[in-house]
Amino acid sequence: MTVARTRPDEAGAPRLSFPADFLWGVATAAYQIEGAVAEDGRTPSIWDTFSRVPGKVLGGDTGDVAADHYHRYREDVALMRELGIGAYRFSVSWSRVMPEWTGPANRRGLDFYSRLVDALVEDGIRPMVTLYHWDLPQALEAAGGWTNRATAERFAEYAAVVAEALGDRVELWTTLNEPWCSAFLGYGSGVHAPGRADSAAALSASHHLLLAHGLAVQALRSELPSAASLSITLNLAAVRPAGPAPGDLDAVRRIDGLANRLFLEPLLSEGYPADVIGDTARVTDWSFVLERDEATIAAPIDLLGVNYYTPTLVSAYDGHGSRAAADGHAPGPGTAWPGSESVQFPAQQGPHTAMGWSIDATGLEELLLRLHREYPGVPLLVTENGAAFEDHVDEAGAIHDVERVHYLHEHLTAVHRVISAGVQVRGYFLWSLLDNFEWSYGYSKRFGIFYVDFETQRRVPKESARWYREVLAANGVPAD
Ligand code: FCB
Repeated sequence: MTVARTRPDEAGAPRLSFPADFLWGVATAAYQIEGAVAEDGRTPSIWDTFSRVPGKVLGGDTGDVAADHYHRYREDVALMRELGIGAYRFSVSWSRVMPEWTGPANRRGLDFYSRLVDALVEDGIRPMVTLYHWDLPQALEAAGGWTNRATAERFAEYAAVVAEALGDRVELWTTLNEPWCSAFLGYGSGVHAPGRADSAAALSASHHLLLAHGLAVQALRSELPSAASLSITLNLAAVRPAGPAPGDLDAVRRIDGLANRLFLEPLLSEGYPADVIGDTARVTDWSFVLERDEATIAAPIDLLGVNYYTPTLVSAYDGHGSRAAADGHAPGPGTAWPGSESVQFPAQQGPHTAMGWSIDATGLEELLLRLHREYPGVPLLVTENGAAFEDHVDEAGAIHDVERVHYLHEHLTAVHRVISAGVQVRGYFLWSLLDNFEWSYGYSKRFGIFYVDFETQRRVPKESARWYREVLAANGVPAD
């Protein structure tokens, strides 16, 4: 891998150039863009069910149609080709592929992904498959969902089915996207599907998700050629204390434990962190962790995916007055942070995105440097980064999303800095190609570099799409 450096582009403007083999991509997820929820044999996922519960998703929005990508994938691949995208990270809908979840596989569901992969490969775009981006088959939830150990085994079977169908053309594989969100927003705070609010269930879900990852890695290794690159994507937090007081530092330890070490340590080193088990002892006795589980979870991976949007600020909470809860997630019936009653999340300084997330690229830099320090042998991939803003279509039909361009520029500059410092960052996937169904915010938050008119499904490139195309063409970001 060549080293990142500064050099002028063809027009003579100085650019921070990236390594020659740096992977430039965009990312999406099945339920957020596909639509076609009842087509070709697909059965409901927990998001189909959850989005129909009144009050759970803003505006009562669902993913029924979304960006209609299921029917428009060719058009979307063409958009990527025009941008000069090197790799496309998308997810597979489990209930499209295994509608009855015990098998057999649904050929029509698999064929959609097979056609998508063919279209990508034809246009020189490397497909990167995420096997699970939050859309558990509803039938599996009815049997306990991620609190049921058997779900982990079903996931490995599903992984093998997808690998068998696509493994001849797909080299880049990710088991899970952001298991923290699946467990702690889905089963803890209840703001994501399946909407349960039970701290003990969240911790058991978190373990079974990691177990599912480990079992799937085994299944993928035996199904795929040796060149396959296996990964998991985590939404790690750059956790910062509001001040130097011991209570604030303990808040950092607790939240770092739940958001980061609860995942990193079993995946990449020595099993579960003892302090997190201690912090949550009043919630669960952790008896769902069986003897060989930690060894299964620690199956070697080739890459670690990191999603980053904003840093996390914490301070001590002494039980008096109202407790600040600006952790970046909507408030729900339960908590996303079991055993952390002594912690609060103060609001952070602006500027903010439309999600209310503070814009601070130093968090990304901090996170990547830390991973390099603690796990120097694990190459990294930024699998999501991007921002929602209030996009305005002007009279000429154009969208001048200068704030998004600025956000991307800052974060890519941070990535360039860490590569220059010797960190192995192999690529960057911008979230997202298209405006889409932003989970409990429905269609109210737009993250795309292509604007989607959800009435007509017309895609319009925003200024950020043009900017990204130039970055890709030059393999570098402007140096200013
Ligand atoms: C991440 C999710 C992705 C999208 C972005 C904004 O947590 O992985 O689906 O919603 O946030």
